[in-house]
Amino acid sequence: MSIVLVTGGAGFIGSNFVRRVLEATDDSVLVLDKLTYAGNPASLTGLPDDRFEFVRGDICDRELVDRLVARADTVVHFAAESHNDNSLRDPEPFITTNLYGTFALLEAVRKHDKRFHHISTDEVYGDLELDDPERFRETTSYQPSSPYSASKAGSDHLVRAWVRSFGVRATISNCSNNYGPRQHIEKFIPRQITNIIDGVRPKLYGQGRNVRDWIHVDDHNSAVLRILEAGEIGQTYLIGADGEHDNKTVIELLLRLMGQPADAYDHVNDRPGHDLRYAIDATKLRTELGWVPTYSDFASGLAATIDWYRANEAWWRPHKSAVEAKYATQGQ
Ligand code: NAD
Ligand code: DAU
Repeated sequence: MSIVLVTGGAGFIGSNFVRRVLEATDDSVLVLDKLTYAGNPASLTGLPDDRFEFVRGDICDRELVDRLVARADTVVHFAAESHNDNSLRDPEPFITTNLYGTFALLEAVRKHDKRFHHISTDEVYGDLELDDPERFRETTSYQPSSPYSASKAGSDHLVRAWVRSFGVRATISNCSNNYGPRQHIEKFIPRQITNIIDGVRPKLYGQGRNVRDWIHVDDHNSAVLRILEAGEIGQTYLIGADGEHDNKTVIELLLRLMGQPADAYDHVNDRPGHDLRYAIDATKLRTELGWVPTYSDFASGLAATIDWYRANEAWWRPHKSAVEAKYATQGQ
């Protein structure tokens, strides 16, 4: 049995990862999370006391990070400022957490010689034209568009430098857009689900031609576990499940699944610098590590996600009015 330190374990993907590790392995989990607006302790209830510990703290606190890394066997680094729209309003926390916080973790894993896995995003590659036959691969050059994606790109470069210069035992994964339970309601899919529950028309940025490559959060996390088991140190793996859909199609599907007319949505102001299309070629992960996703049907994955938000209103309701007030100030 070993100890996995999960940074950002009270967030969307991190909390689902913690549950999966506790269910699928004998490992213990130690979570380090600052509980920013995006961290929700309610995402970590009902976990076994003897194998789960939560520490509230900042990944930029080097003394705390050093102490926790010393106790762990493996570090899986999810903690980040994660929302593009927020990075356009105020980039500073993205620079601090995503760059300095990753640096603090790298210094600690270097000192204590611990295995490190860095969770990153496909947004580091910029965007693709709608008709581009190429998809992102591990060899695609970096071209981030927003302060968020630029800070994640910088954190990836830090990890590679620590591997090459200091021999840190690290891997990186860059995943496409996740959906599923416990995603903050500022994000596209849960924002629209909770709007429809509230009888409010969903909000589509611009014309909604932008394409995202959707993957269920459990498929993302099964890929991360596979990389921890069999990934080669120093390597990067792209994670995606061939789930490209444009935003207009996703809104129409959500409306239909929730019993509303498919055209009952509003067009709102577009996101400045809005990336047009993301698409992942996950051949390396599939062929070298034998990973396969389990959620092959997007509509049923969305239907289960809708059910989760309907059944867990107490989880999201306290945040709804503040999220919508923030969007209203920018006509979104
Ligand atoms: P999230 O915003 O839901 O959760 C982030 C968590 O990190 C929160 O619990 C927050 O409290 C914590 N955190 C933030 N700053 C911190 C700090 N300084 N110290 C300690 N904890 C801090 O994010 P998410 O959507 O779960 O994303 C997790 C990771 O996955 C991020 O690194 C993100 O870049 C990456 N990623 C996300 C997606 C996606 O679709 N959501 C896709 C690919 C990659
Ligand atoms: O690709 C991976 C990335 O996916 C992650 O790195 C990010 O952490 C994650 O937030 C996500 O980024 P996006 O910017 O793609 O996700 P978001 O949910 O904010 O938006 C998805 C798409 O929907 C995007 O094209 C913008 C659009 N959108 C978003 C909102 C909130 C709308 O049309 N209306 C909305 O209300």
